[in-house]
Amino acid sequence: MGKGRATQERERLRAQNLIYAPHTEMLLSLSGIKPGMSVIDIGCGIGDMTIQIARMVGPTGTVVGIDMDSDALDVAERQASGLRNVTFQQARIPDLELDHQADALVGRLVVMHLKDAAQDIEKLRSTVRPGGTIALLDFNVQRCRTLPHMPLTNQCVDWCIRALLAGGSNPAVGDQLYSILRAAGLNTPRLAVSVPTATASDLSALAVLAETVITLLPVIESFGLATREEIDPNTLIHRLQNEVLETGGIAFSPELVGAWATVPE
Ligand SMILES: C[S@@+](CC[C@H](N)C(=O)[O-])C[C@H]1O[C@@H](n2cnc3c(N)ncnc32)[C@H](O)[C@@H]1O
Repeated sequence: MGKGRATQERERLRAQNLIYAPHTEMLLSLSGIKPGMSVIDIGCGIGDMTIQIARMVGPTGTVVGIDMDSDALDVAERQASGLRNVTFQQARIPDLELDHQADALVGRLVVMHLKDAAQDIEKLRSTVRPGGTIALLDFNVQRCRTLPHMPLTNQCVDWCIRALLAGGSNPAVGDQLYSILRAAGLNTPRLAVSVPTATASDLSALAVLAETVITLLPVIESFGLATREEIDPNTLIHRLQNEVLETGGIAFSPELVGAWATVPE
């Protein structure tokens, strides 16, 4: 990824994290992340969720963020400077070398990057102690909706879905987490879903949609789905906001699906 695209991707991850942090916290809590635990965060990117977990596990717990992208890890290290219970390690999933078994392994928005997620998770089971937890969080973009119909918002969601499909990614990967955990030999996964919304009283969730369309713009254009002029990145966020304000309606963001299971004794 070139520098411009890498920066754009960081902007998108930041916008996304701001909106999804409370939803992430709820799903991680449901999965049993609590003070004192040692946690591995796979595909940690710039470390936003890693830092969130560090706060959840507190000073008696630890978290190690794993990513193959050294530039992302540099940003993560800077963001986490001052936190004593966080470390980062460059590694390619599933080949991790850790000196202890953790209480939990978690990964947000990473499954869609793995060629065979079930096989990778099965290999990663040995990094978690028996009785520990494996939790995966990912989007389902296909169930976004608006009330009432909002043409631009729905068009943006459609561009994202088509661009993800064209690039070989599954826009409904969240729906697969349950079967991925089962295929990895974890027989009793549990599941929950959380959905940020945009309304006239809080439009901030629309930033994620706008940033995602802008990040996917090269793919959208190269597959002939829309032109830069049609999308008009400089005004996109304002037009999305106006649509919600003018209709007085609700724009539902992608679902964040959480699935978690216990590693057998
Ligand atoms: C969409 S980002 C998600 C970042 C972070 N988990 C979050 O929720 O903000 C996906 C990250 O997974 C990393 N990744 C993808 N495949 C990987 C692999 N096989 N090994 C290690 N990291 C990987 C990418 O480098 C990227 O930083």
